[in-house]
Amino acid sequence: RNPESQNILDAHQWLVKLYHHLLRNSKDGKQAYEYLADRGFTDEIIEKYQLGYSPNSKDFVATFLEKKGFHPQTMVKAGLLSVNSEGEYSDRFRGRIIFPLRNHLGKTVAFAGRALGDQQPKYLNSPETDLFHKGQLLYNFDLARSSIRKQNSVVLFEGYADVISSFQAGVTNAVGTMGTSISTNQAKLLKRYADKVIICYDGDQAGIDAAVKAAKLVKNVGCQSNVARLPEGQDPDDFIRKNGGERFKREILDTSDTYVTFIMSYLKRNYNLQLEGDRISYIEEVLKEVAQLDRAVEREHYLHEISQEFQMSMDTLKEEVQQIRSHLG
Ligand code: CTP
Ligand code: MN
Ligand code: MN
Ligand code: MN
Ligand code: MN
Repeated sequence: RNPESQNILDAHQWLVKLYHHLLRNSKDGKQAYEYLADRGFTDEIIEKYQLGYSPNSKDFVATFLEKKGFHPQTMVKAGLLSVNSEGEYSDRFRGRIIFPLRNHLGKTVAFAGRALGDQQPKYLNSPETDLFHKGQLLYNFDLARSSIRKQNSVVLFEGYADVISSFQAGVTNAVGTMGTSISTNQAKLLKRYADKVIICYDGDQAGIDAAVKAAKLVKNVGCQSNVARLPEGQDPDDFIRKNGGERFKREILDTSDTYVTFIMSYLKRNYNLQLEGDRISYIEEVLKEVAQLDRAVEREHYLHEISQEFQMSMDTLKEEVQQIRSHLG
């Protein structure tokens, strides 16, 4: 590892401690602490995730880092400071709740800063650096890894708060992408630890659309791909705060849809099944998905469902599926 990367890691380690200390002990940090407490973050969770507070100051961190002997230009590269046209260095994160973002080895390589209110952006993340690629890092993977392996399954969230809440509720095999849909690399990494992924994104249009993409990607790396459904307008953190972890596990995770069932209900929203043309298009779309299933029992299961719902013969459906399969790579 080159000296600059080591420097950047060291600076992050110092700042995890500093931000955390300021959350717990500064006058300014008190409102941030209260915000977290209001949201249901316990002291135990604040410690475990080393949550922090970045003071609302132009140069508190800049001064701190300089005193510790860090080169300001390197700190700009690290995304910890900004520099203006006059060459003045200033703090990047100001007046925000700090979530340290750890890599798979548990080293903090970036920060996410959440606004205390409705200020925009809601989250300010570190920029991409040699050590931090947003599309590569899986939030909480270092803490969840052994549980993922033990359970042979992983629950995938879109937000930091969702991962932390579910962890607090006893769902320890929880990881998060950071608002973006999962990348092929991330999916392949998960496949090395587990055969099943439960996608648990927000119950809004963006979350549902992202879940479709994620579900396909996860299936294509060879994992069983399930999708959990949240009530309209709620995210997993909202649900857990409102209803508790037990109900979350029982009503959301344990009842997650299989890939095909999820795709069927997703497609149904785009078709008017009262119309003959739409009905046929819908069935054809679903058969394409069914045709890609490896196990004959599974294919048969869904064909039965379609056969009953649309009064079609199993022979016709099977023939169609065989036809599609003969053209698959
Ligand atoms: N995100 C981001 N930058 C933003 C908004 C979102 O990086 N301006 C990422 C964050 O990782 C966030 C995730 O996308 O956790 C999901 O976004 P959203 O659902 O809007 O936020 P929540 O995680 O629900 O945040 P909170 O509960 O704190 O409102
Ligand atoms: Mn502490
Ligand atoms: Mn969201
Ligand atoms: Mn959300
Ligand atoms: Mn949320």
